[in-house]
Amino acid sequence: MPDDLATTVLERCDALAAFSEEDGRLTRRFATDALRMAGDAVEGWMREAGMTTRRDAIGNVIGRMEGGDGGTLLMGSHLDTVRDAGRYDGPLGVLIAIACAERLRGTLPYALEIYGFADEEGVRYGTAYLGSSVVAGRFDPALLQRRDADGIAIAEAIGVEAAALAAAARAPADLRGYVEVHIEQGPLLEQEDVPVGIVDAIAGQTRAAVTFTGAAGHAGTVPMDLRHDALTAAAEWILAVEARARAKEGLVATVGEARVEPGAGNVIPGRVRLSLDVRHADDAAREHAVERLRGRADDVASSRDLALEWDVLQETPAVQCAPPLRDALAAAVRDGGHRVVHLTSGAGHDAAIMASLTPAAMLFVRCAGGISHHPSESVDHADVAAAIAVVMRFLEAHRG
Ligand code: HGY
Ligand code: MN
Ligand code: MN
Repeated sequence: MPDDLATTVLERCDALAAFSEEDGRLTRRFATDALRMAGDAVEGWMREAGMTTRRDAIGNVIGRMEGGDGGTLLMGSHLDTVRDAGRYDGPLGVLIAIACAERLRGTLPYALEIYGFADEEGVRYGTAYLGSSVVAGRFDPALLQRRDADGIAIAEAIGVEAAALAAAARAPADLRGYVEVHIEQGPLLEQEDVPVGIVDAIAGQTRAAVTFTGAAGHAGTVPMDLRHDALTAAAEWILAVEARARAKEGLVATVGEARVEPGAGNVIPGRVRLSLDVRHADDAAREHAVERLRGRADDVASSRDLALEWDVLQETPAVQCAPPLRDALAAAVRDGGHRVVHLTSGAGHDAAIMASLTPAAMLFVRCAGGISHHPSESVDHADVAAAIAVVMRFLEAHRG
């Protein structure tokens, strides 16, 4: 049975991959036509599964399968992607949930509500979790004025006011919890040779914009000792970011974006805006690293007579998964004849936000080479079938 559902899930992942903002590669950012079209496809599959569907004010796609009077279990993941993404990061979790709901239609003593979140990656506005933050009642209205690289504010992109987003928060009263299925995006399950894993915790993350401002100038006439080159300053600091992360066990730090202005080969860069992404399972370690990196940026800027702007875009603390749900998922893994492997997620997930609304747990699915945020991201049919069987067992056992 899970085999045919796995085929359906993988075929649907392929179908969703066609909805992209860019030709030749998968990029599907928040509040774009590509995301809306992907949401339409998911909504259609939810309806085919017998669910009622709706879109909320931030653009999440929500399907509901009625059950008995035992409250509501939430499931889901995100439908937005990074640039040049793989096709399983996010959609796999949404589509496995829909497939299981369809197969268990009318048999569960509780309702199932499945979310396709509109922004988990945060590519367009730098702040991840816009979709799940609205559902969890944690959306910061000030973000409505946050502008993307084209100067479009979130409020303009979605056309709603803060009140509508506040009204979209999910009441916790009837909730039994939130369970998210997601590819591991790391190598552990492959090393352990198991198809699925149980997430104990999700690492915390800090995202910041770091801008060095110097003086643009003619590449041919300004002597080296008179320059205030923003890009060489950025380069010195970026290497310091890497060195600090290499020196601390469990710390990862990444500069993934660099906007160089004015951006011409014969002009000394006057301004460089960098992204910074820092993560660690321990919040104190992450905060200490961010503080030291900020100090180092100040030193680099002042030693080169440049200005520095440091804007923290988002801070998400580490989150522990809820033991009762986590252990119930582990039992479903064990009952499927698999060894139970526990792991901490270095990647962020909507579960980290939903955990503030209701107890949350995650099931990871092995992915080839642990590769993700890359077009060669892939999963085995057999592992998807194993994950579906685990979810089905969990949903059927989750009656208490
Ligand atoms: O960046 C992350 O950890 C996740 O993929 N959004
Ligand atoms: Mn993801
Ligand atoms: Mn991702």
